[in-house]
Amino acid sequence: MSVLEVIEKKKHGVHLTTDEIKKTIDDYVSGVIKDYQMSALLMAIYFNGMNDEEINALTASMIDSGDTVDLSSIKGTIVDKHSTGGVGDTTTLILGPLLSAYGLPFGKMSGRGLGHTGGTLDKLESIPGLHVDLSVEEIIEATNNVGMAVAGQTANITPADKKLYALRDATATVDAIPLIASSIMSKKLAIHGDCLLLDVKVGDGAFMRDKESALTLAKTMVSIGENFGRKTVAILTRMDQPLGKAVGNGLEVQEAIDTLRGEGPEDLTELCIGLAVRLIAMTCDDDKKRIEHDVRSLIKNGKALEQFRRFVENQGGDGRVVEDPSILPKSTHSLDVKAVSSGYIQSIPAHDVGILARDLGAGRITMDDTLDMAAGIYLHKKVGDKVEKGDVLATLYSAKPEALQEGEKRLDDIIKISSEAVHVEPLIIDEVYRGF
Ligand code: URA
Ligand code: CA
Repeated sequence: MSVLEVIEKKKHGVHLTTDEIKKTIDDYVSGVIKDYQMSALLMAIYFNGMNDEEINALTASMIDSGDTVDLSSIKGTIVDKHSTGGVGDTTTLILGPLLSAYGLPFGKMSGRGLGHTGGTLDKLESIPGLHVDLSVEEIIEATNNVGMAVAGQTANITPADKKLYALRDATATVDAIPLIASSIMSKKLAIHGDCLLLDVKVGDGAFMRDKESALTLAKTMVSIGENFGRKTVAILTRMDQPLGKAVGNGLEVQEAIDTLRGEGPEDLTELCIGLAVRLIAMTCDDDKKRIEHDVRSLIKNGKALEQFRRFVENQGGDGRVVEDPSILPKSTHSLDVKAVSSGYIQSIPAHDVGILARDLGAGRITMDDTLDMAAGIYLHKKVGDKVEKGDVLATLYSAKPEALQEGEKRLDDIIKISSEAVHVEPLIIDEVYRGF
């Protein structure tokens, strides 16, 4: 079998065998198959898709291309969650303390932000002293001792995906569901775990713009997870406006702390509780109503916030951050953006807000860019809110005064105000369980 035969088959919509897929991935990683050949195959996959067997073979080949991480010496049922990416998505910083305060170990490997989306590691590093460079042994130790750890990836996980993702990015083949599903799931499955909850974002700020394709992606990922023996559930959540009110690293840490104290934005709070309840329900037979009651109690009685402090201190961070926001980086400059007309907020497109936050200094264009931990956007109003002309819609933070002036103009265009009342759709749209 030559790579030309494989491309030819896929070009005509013929299914590839497991061996063909495995050999193709191995040969691509070793350099025998060239980028131009793989590009042609990716485009053929984009147009002709893959069946479950092919998707599972692709996922397995990508897992096998690198290291796997054995977390089995973490005591208890190991839970993990993954969001397909969004703007202002601070859920890991809230869900981790909630789950570990409940008694489920939460040892997670997270990523950094790029483009319009932020990354959990960057957010955490806005806390003075906190470091995320834990070895696998340290993650296990921290999770067993404190109940929670969040770290970067040290192991060489799924190098095939790294190479393929860069090529997809350069050949307009990122948005193929079999490729996205196998890319995400190979990285998750390379790390040991019992239960996985996928938060598949739908909307303007997400990979999947419409519900139908998000549902297909969710079903594909749940099938892969179950096929590899991981209990997997997916929920579809709206990402047409940023989640919560804060977008930016230090701002989002503050928002996570507020939420753990019970004073966070409603959408973020309800999503985190919804995620926690579903993950806990995957690990036991308890009634969801009872679990929800217990999860809410952990916020009310301060245990979730205390758990956040223990986690921060265990990773070298200044735990006083939970009661003293002045510990977080403060921006030298800020600017209030005011409503130019009265009415109701109609839309705050997440993608545009994410790009603006990036340009204020909160994000990266390339992985080498340095971050301004205090930069970002705080939305005082969200979709559906009533506003009067002159009300502050948002506050912009940046070390670059000229970026603030430009940001004000851009945000004026981004936020749409309607003269009529606006209906707000529920954040959680759908859920996908095994067997659908
Ligand atoms: N995230 C990933 O990790 N892979 C994709 O292909 C898309 C989003
Ligand atoms: Ca947020």
